[in-house]
Amino acid sequence: MRKILVTSALPYANGPIHIGHLVEYIQTDIWVRYQKMCGHQCIYVCADDAHGTPIMLRARQQGITPEQLIKTIAVEHRADFAEFGVDFDNYHSTHSPENRYFANTIYQRNREKGHISLRTITQAYDPVEKMFLPDRFIKGECPKCGAQDQYGDNCEVCGASYSPSELINPVSAVSGVTPEQRESEHHFFRLGDFETLLRQWTRGGHLQQEVSNKLDEWFAAGLQEWDISRDAPYFGFEIPDHPGKFFYVWMDAPIGYMASFKHLCDRSVGIEFDDFWKPGSEAELYHFIGKDIIYFHALFWPAMLHGADYRMPTAIFSHGFLTVDGLKMSKSRGTFIKARSYLDHLNPEYLRYYFAAKLGSGVDDIDLNLDDFIARVNADLVGKVVNIASRCAGFISKRFDNRLAERLPEPDLFAEFSSAGNGIAGLFEQREFSRAVREIMALADRANQYIDEKKPWVIAKQQGREQELHQVCTMGLNLFRLLIGYLRPILPVTAAQSESFLQIEPLTWNALSTPLTGHRIAAFKPLMTRIERAQVDALLAASRESLEPAASLQAKTGLLSKDPIGDPIEFPEFAKVDLRVARIVQAEHVDGADKLLHLTLDLGGERRSVFAGIKSAYTPETLVGRLTVMVANLAPRKMRFGLSEGMILAAGPGGSEIFLLSPDAGAEPGMRVK
Ligand code: MSP
Ligand code: ZN
Repeated sequence: MRKILVTSALPYANGPIHIGHLVEYIQTDIWVRYQKMCGHQCIYVCADDAHGTPIMLRARQQGITPEQLIKTIAVEHRADFAEFGVDFDNYHSTHSPENRYFANTIYQRNREKGHISLRTITQAYDPVEKMFLPDRFIKGECPKCGAQDQYGDNCEVCGASYSPSELINPVSAVSGVTPEQRESEHHFFRLGDFETLLRQWTRGGHLQQEVSNKLDEWFAAGLQEWDISRDAPYFGFEIPDHPGKFFYVWMDAPIGYMASFKHLCDRSVGIEFDDFWKPGSEAELYHFIGKDIIYFHALFWPAMLHGADYRMPTAIFSHGFLTVDGLKMSKSRGTFIKARSYLDHLNPEYLRYYFAAKLGSGVDDIDLNLDDFIARVNADLVGKVVNIASRCAGFISKRFDNRLAERLPEPDLFAEFSSAGNGIAGLFEQREFSRAVREIMALADRANQYIDEKKPWVIAKQQGREQELHQVCTMGLNLFRLLIGYLRPILPVTAAQSESFLQIEPLTWNALSTPLTGHRIAAFKPLMTRIERAQVDALLAASRESLEPAASLQAKTGLLSKDPIGDPIEFPEFAKVDLRVARIVQAEHVDGADKLLHLTLDLGGERRSVFAGIKSAYTPETLVGRLTVMVANLAPRKMRFGLSEGMILAAGPGGSEIFLLSPDAGAEPGMRVK
């Protein structure tokens, strides 16, 4: 029996779980359920990530304490996970005594070995709120392109990265005043001390290939010291012996994995903390995470653990990001779907199945295509799997008093299904869920084909073929039992209902190879119904409705001040701006740019090449052919990716909420906008 400890990343306690998060928790849960079905000791822990400035400010905005906020959110998170069948062995919080203990221990042990240094740094400070400002709470004009209202570290318009001190006319997003520069002493974790260890570890089979490659880039760029402290006011743990200094949220967040596990150990018999965390431990430790947080998990975390004499992870499994119908989740399109909204409209097992059908072991993004979602769930689960049971169960109940036949008519077919289990098991182990699903569905086709050939509904009408009918239906239900067994990690509720229909113990991987004969089953109840497009539309509409424009701007920027109207200008100044109607004749992705699209604009004969920071809201295909408005006499500007000859106009806070201006019908390329 293997001893395995598994974690998913800890969701922030300042907002609801959404379907993007669920990719990760469902992926992890399937893997854990598979391990448990194999009879291993597999423990799955998680927690809320409860510290940090955004949580402190969110609580303040709601007029409650951070403790109250994280308590409310924890209740919601737990309920959402439970209803999606995400079955943690323990769910805890980083704001807990266990986490404080381990954060202190890890910090102190690293400090004793000289891995922590103290240095004075200069940072933006809000004199009204009396707090230092994290980069994302400073806004101003981009030093490269002059775009207004950009965050402290990078520009959404031109894609430039810079430090917040370079912003022009910076303001605090909390109070709206101009920040001051102030000095403060910070604690740094000397990541560079671990370079040799980390170079080995990251090449030692603990990471996916693509992730190791990414890490090579980071090594090449040099491992920087990591700032692990923050000044008061901060919602977190005060650093021992340093009043007024707190651990940065990302310092104590991964430690939350240990804290949650410790909290479980303290309440259970037979699980020893040290068996899992001491160096050289034989237990396996796996972290499932999104690709956005690899740096923290593949560099800082193993180094901190090693520096504190704990074991390092066995492996880190990263996954990609969820898109919906090929686009980022968007509040305005109604595709920013909260777990709760989904549950109000659809069966969670549908989504578990669909994610499984899309997930592999790599870091590629996965797309929830809504039409495909409906089609696959209906065709595979309802049309193929559940259908097998419903085609056979009626006869067993009406003609044979709910009793299965004493023997199977086709032992070879059963053996074929049962030996396929090894391959499917290997695919689950390797997190190749989409391939496992494909194999299972091929078996489901085979089972339906068997029933189509035998035609129990025909046999049932003929005299003297009772025994044959009995055996064929018993065979069908045995094939169904194997399929449900293989799908059990993905569809725990449907599996449990099937087990109660078949009147059997919870299925284990081992039990599957023994056929079920001469056994009394229960009456069949439909296990799953089809999805109707109307249900999905209702979900999208509800997700769109829950959007209040003011709240969305707030949520996006964390801005407590409004976006004020600029200083007045005289007409001649305005008249200098030559605005023209333009047709987008070509739109392309730009290699290496996260936010830019390369557009070719037609101004009624003349063509312009423009780079626009609208990729987060538009795909190239949706742009080609449409009219918009551009500043035609803006001096050409050399950008990292080429020359930009003008600027198109758009509104909105950014992200998925960027709205291009469109002239009314009748406007033609080249017309002046006045
Ligand atoms: N609190 C940190 C993690 C600390 S772990 C010690 C955090 N929280 S999060 O709520 O933003 O994200 C939690 C997990 O969900 C992360 O692994 C993240 O990658 C994943 N996802 C969040 N949005 C996602 C998608 N849209 N798609 C797929 N996974 C996503 O990061
Ligand atoms: Zn810029």
